Amino acid sequence: MTFAYRLAALSLVAGLAAPAIASADGKSLFNDNCSACHQVTGKGVKGAFPALAGSPFVQGPPQVLTTTVLNGRAGMPAFKDDLNDADLSAILTYVRTSWGNKGAAVQPADVAKARVAAKAAAKARGLQAH
Ligand code: HEC
Repeated sequence: MTFAYRLAALSLVAGLAAPAIASADGKSLFNDNCSACHQVTGKGVKGAFPALAGSPFVQGPPQVLTTTVLNGRAGMPAFKDDLNDADLSAILTYVRTSWGNKGAAVQPADVAKARVAAKAAAKARGLQAH
């Protein structure tokens, strides 16, 4: 599939040239991974896919946002196995700073931290009786 190939090529470029082109990568990675549902405009589809443009959730605390995209939620797939820390931070920075959004950038280290926290939380839930 050319899609997987393109994604691999993009990841490679992101890995080689890291922060300087983060926003450009974030845009193409968003368009490849997220826009089928949330649309390239970030406006989503009413009643099906929430708008990311203007969303307080998207511009709010980065960890809860990152965890949501790592683990997925309701009709949204999990991305933890498909996107590495650099790619996900580029996407999240893009959605937090595009379409009039004014969130702070998300660093790859923030994504790494959210992964660890999400794993710990999942383990704790698994230990509970219900
Ligand atoms: C297959 C469709 C689909 C794809 C692809 C998808 N999402 Fe979603 N997304 C959803 C749906 C559906 C919801 C609402 C989930 C719910 O009802 O809790 C959602 C919710 C969200 C939310 C929470 C919004 C809020 O205000 O609560 C964020 C943030 C988000 N998606 C970001 C992303 C990002 C970033 C990507 C790409 C890495 C992505 N999504 C890819 C369908 C998708």
